[in-house]
Amino acid sequence: STRAPLDRLGRPLLDLRLSVIEACNFRCGYCMPADRVPDDHGFDQAGRMSFDEIETLVRGFARVGMRKLRLTGGEPLLRKGLPALVERLARIDGIDDLAMTTNASLLARHAQALRDAGLQRLTISLDALDAALFRRLSGGRGEVSDVLAGIDAAERAGFAAIKFNCVVQRGVNDHEVERLAEHFRGSGHVLRFIEYMDVGTCNDWALARVVPSRELHARIHARWPLRALEAQYRGEVASRHAFEDGAGEIGFISSVSAPFCGDCQRARVSADGSLYTCLFSGSGHALRPWLAEGDAGFAGRLAELWRQRGDRYSKLRGRDPSPRRHVEMFLVGG
Ligand code: GTP
Ligand code: 5AD
Ligand code: SF4
Ligand code: SF4
Repeated sequence: STRAPLDRLGRPLLDLRLSVIEACNFRCGYCMPADRVPDDHGFDQAGRMSFDEIETLVRGFARVGMRKLRLTGGEPLLRKGLPALVERLARIDGIDDLAMTTNASLLARHAQALRDAGLQRLTISLDALDAALFRRLSGGRGEVSDVLAGIDAAERAGFAAIKFNCVVQRGVNDHEVERLAEHFRGSGHVLRFIEYMDVGTCNDWALARVVPSRELHARIHARWPLRALEAQYRGEVASRHAFEDGAGEIGFISSVSAPFCGDCQRARVSADGSLYTCLFSGSGHALRPWLAEGDAGFAGRLAELWRQRGDRYSKLRGRDPSPRRHVEMFLVGG
């Protein structure tokens, strides 16, 4: 049957992260450094799924049990006509949660249209508040003032409890941690620190550059006492902590020091319609040919694929001596 398949480790497919575009206006060193990813990289127009194909694909995922949909990139706001796509996806039965991850540099001009189209939640990547450091981290292409303007516009458009993702790299932006925490305390938004991961093939990842969550927790806790909170749902990747003084909450995503593969219910699809069953998959499964069968036919094929899944890369990290071959982060959007 096509109903709620479980993979080989007993995990359902509840969560889809769908990339709408592989291009980005930033060149973050950990994702697509300018010296390794040329400006004209990526798919041509025909290489990307159309909105019709995307809608069929999402309907197919909903048929096999997907309930949470997140739009990603590259930078999703570079995809032309995005609000029209959001409007079509927001109408699909069974999807309880429709979110988007963005660098927010173009958000000021799109926030209201996305909200009106039915986008429910936003996650914004933000690795520094210092203007010069931000510029450097974005590969010289981003201005933190644009991101702050995007946040303002999002608040005015009605987005609340926005999540902020900060990838912490030792010796690079780890001195910004308290400043970021202070900025978002009491804002109603939720800042999460992410351990730097060995994703893709373009970055110079080294374990020494990872700042373990326990170290960041100790630093924040020393300044503003924290109290651990329960997870909001099974498989939540961030561990949540409340500020004891009532200034909201903060999170830690410990993908390196405390892998969460056991509860991983996420599938990823790139803008060209390839399914990646893990953030660290070496290759994808081309779904596009099956979309011609319509959402019901496609759902049957998808269920079959999901039943074969046995990924748990982060759990096995470091134990496999084979050379790294991972999908690039800009193809699957985190
Ligand atoms: P919600 O709970 O729906 O708000 O989303 P989330 O907490 O999953 O947040 P988000 O999608 O922004 O993910 C945050 C970051 O956590 C990603 O950008 C990744 O860096 C990391 N992450 C998310 N899912 C996975 C995963 O399946 N495996 C690994 N290794 N890291 C992940
Ligand atoms: N390690 C951890 N998180 C990463 N992201 C991108 N590359 C990495 C990495 N190497 C996160 C970004 C962004 C999301 C799209 O993925 O912070 O929030
Ligand atoms: Fe662009 Fe996000 Fe990758 Fe940075 S991490 S280059 S903002 S897709
Ligand atoms: Fe899921 Fe792969 Fe991340 Fe493990 S490493 S949590 S299986 S995406």
